[in-house]
Amino acid sequence: MLNHAKNFIQKRLLASDVFLGIRKAKNLLFRKPFFRIMLDVTNSCNLRCPFCVNHWENSPAVAMSDALFHKSLTLVPLTWKGEFYISCLYEPTLHRNLEKLLVSIPSKYARRIQMTTNMTTQLSDDFLKALAECDLYQVNVSIDSLVPKVYESLRVNAKFDRFIDNLDRYVKFRESANNKTRLNLITVVCKINYAEIVELVKMCRDAFRPTTHEIRYAFESDANWQWLQTQNISDYDWDVLDDRLSKLSYPLHIEKPPHLLKSSKSIVKFQSTLDPILTINSQGIADIYGTDIRFDLNVLDNPFEILQRVDLNRE
Ligand SMILES: C[S@@+](CC[C@H](N)C(=O)[O-])C[C@H]1O[C@@H](n2cnc3c(N)ncnc32)[C@H](O)[C@@H]1O
Ligand code: SF4
Repeated sequence: MLNHAKNFIQKRLLASDVFLGIRKAKNLLFRKPFFRIMLDVTNSCNLRCPFCVNHWENSPAVAMSDALFHKSLTLVPLTWKGEFYISCLYEPTLHRNLEKLLVSIPSKYARRIQMTTNMTTQLSDDFLKALAECDLYQVNVSIDSLVPKVYESLRVNAKFDRFIDNLDRYVKFRESANNKTRLNLITVVCKINYAEIVELVKMCRDAFRPTTHEIRYAFESDANWQWLQTQNISDYDWDVLDDRLSKLSYPLHIEKPPHLLKSSKSIVKFQSTLDPILTINSQGIADIYGTDIRFDLNVLDNPFEILQRVDLNRE
């Protein structure tokens, strides 16, 4: 797997989520082969955000086939509810058949799945309605600014008006859908948007009524480190922001850099030894993170049978 992808996954493992503690205990008591399964239905993106963890080499775009998608879905029971991603590193709405894939997810799996999107492509009502009604556990939407110029400087190639129109329509369909799908907004903090974060959170709450809003530091990778050298906010600014956001009493998830978290050491230790993560790329290559174990799902008739027996570090 490419270094930047490894880096991204590693940083996701350092998440300052208090629920990690609960999951940690659950993992020990009940056991699931994988703490998380991160699949991507595409390997490309329409944008070029300067903070993005990805490198954009000239590899050909590959969209996951229906057959591979459905074979991969048989692995959903091998991880916890909400921990199966159908997009993580790339942009799922570039998949031409995404609507068809979404509506074909068996209902027993849908409530265990989440998806992340920049919501900046041309999205039809039919697609947004399908996304709202397919009963996923969670939809994550990236939103880094409500100032059009700032947004477009961070989400390079995106059109702010189109993004807001997509999100407005999604929220409308989501609110009339009779289901429990969570809407989580994700904001990556850097110097360019720092001054507006508190206002952004308040405005998003009024306009889009998310279930949660995640305010995240920018993870470093070999693709973005140079940009981050001048764009990372200081530890002091993080503390000020954390303080101001905490006073809002909103359901926020504030993911500060790990060195600012007292508990980060124990989380790293636990996660790196006891929580295998499975990544599945759009070509069907499944890697167990941090190991050399790799499977080609295309050639496995029943990947569930094989992967359910994976029991790393549990002797
Ligand atoms: C890699 S993106 C893929 C999904 C989609 N293309 C998008 O941007 O929403 C997944 C999430 O990670 C966030 N992200 C991208 N680069 C990041 C970084 N360096 N640190 C933290 N989060 C990052 C994005 O904003 C997005 O919310
Ligand atoms: S939209 Fe997502 S995947 Fe695309 S460049 Fe931005 S952060 Fe990276």
